[in-house]
Amino acid sequence: MNASDLGFNAEKMKAMSTNNTIIASDEGHPRVDVWRASNEATAGYAPEQIDELRQALTGVTKYVPAVFLYDDLGSAIGDEIVDAKSYYLARKECELLDRHNEDIARLTVSPLVVELGSGSGKKNAGLLRSVQQQHSALYYMPNDINEKLMYEGAQVFADMLPGARIRCLAGTFEQAIQEVVHATEIPKLFMLLGSTISQLDDFSLLRFWRSQVSKGDQILIAFDLVKDPEIVKAAYSNSETQRHSANALMSLNRSFAGDFDPNAFEFVVRYHSELSRNETHQRSLKDQVVRLEALGLEAHFAKGETIRTAYQRKFVLDDVTAQTEAIGLFPIARFTDEQDWYALVLFEAG
Ligand SMILES: C[S@@+](CC[C@H](N)C(=O)[O-])C[C@H]1O[C@@H](n2cnc3c(N)ncnc32)[C@H](O)[C@@H]1O
Repeated sequence: MNASDLGFNAEKMKAMSTNNTIIASDEGHPRVDVWRASNEATAGYAPEQIDELRQALTGVTKYVPAVFLYDDLGSAIGDEIVDAKSYYLARKECELLDRHNEDIARLTVSPLVVELGSGSGKKNAGLLRSVQQQHSALYYMPNDINEKLMYEGAQVFADMLPGARIRCLAGTFEQAIQEVVHATEIPKLFMLLGSTISQLDDFSLLRFWRSQVSKGDQILIAFDLVKDPEIVKAAYSNSETQRHSANALMSLNRSFAGDFDPNAFEFVVRYHSELSRNETHQRSLKDQVVRLEALGLEAHFAKGETIRTAYQRKFVLDDVTAQTEAIGLFPIARFTDEQDWYALVLFEAG
């Protein structure tokens, strides 16, 4: 089966999205191309993202919106966190993928795999290979707001998976979903791995996904489950997570001519049991005013005040499925480790 058998037509995709572009680099791999949304999130930021940043830096509870965490350096550090010893999440996810990739592949409806928030996608080779074997074809579409890491990962996959076609979807989750559903009517398997769902406030992305896809389309989601808070806090206290947190402030410096002083803040990790939510913060070591020159913005910090740089929700599977079923996503298989720390759940749109 080749790309046109899957109903994909590059000209159609171009025509449908006049502001978007498909790039096939001469230096890149011949089986990898890039679809790039006309999206300020990948080259600068959209006005509403800037508005949120203003509110987030000047409100009572300060935080850095997630979209500002994944510049090139933030994404590269994020990719290193996966290898940190205390970071059980990636270890558990790899174990589950290794153990069950053939079981999952057997349940999949399609050789078209769209991975939302893929990063480098480096954990997925076994699963993608099994999907390719199951369907005698593979069309892999990683999506990320950070194009660099995604594109580098895609080139590695192209070498590892002869015959696979790969199209990187550079843009937001929502833009990637819309583009793919408009480009082809064949069934699709989406994936949201790396516990990315834990960084989203609620299930509105899943509601959006369900509103766009067809009955029978699937999504494989990785959930980090509720467990002893000390284990969770340790996972987010390694030096890579600390660098990722500090980089959240430094990325604002780089993007907006800011003057956050890394030595005037210290890293803090907190677990909120009532919310089942871990949070990483930077705590101000003194009273200070930070300026983001390019936005004409001043953020006032009292000594001891914190700014949240990320949060990670933890889940109870029965609660998850009660919520997803209410929005038309039905679990068809779930895979957990012996300790019940982590889960991969395959859902189908009903
Ligand atoms: C927790 S990391 C997971 C990366 C990878 N899937 C893994 O398993 O290691 C979240 C990824 O989602 C991407 N991301 C965050 N917000 C996004 C958005 N709104 N649209 C698309 N990608 C996004 C980040 O750039 C990052 O690569």
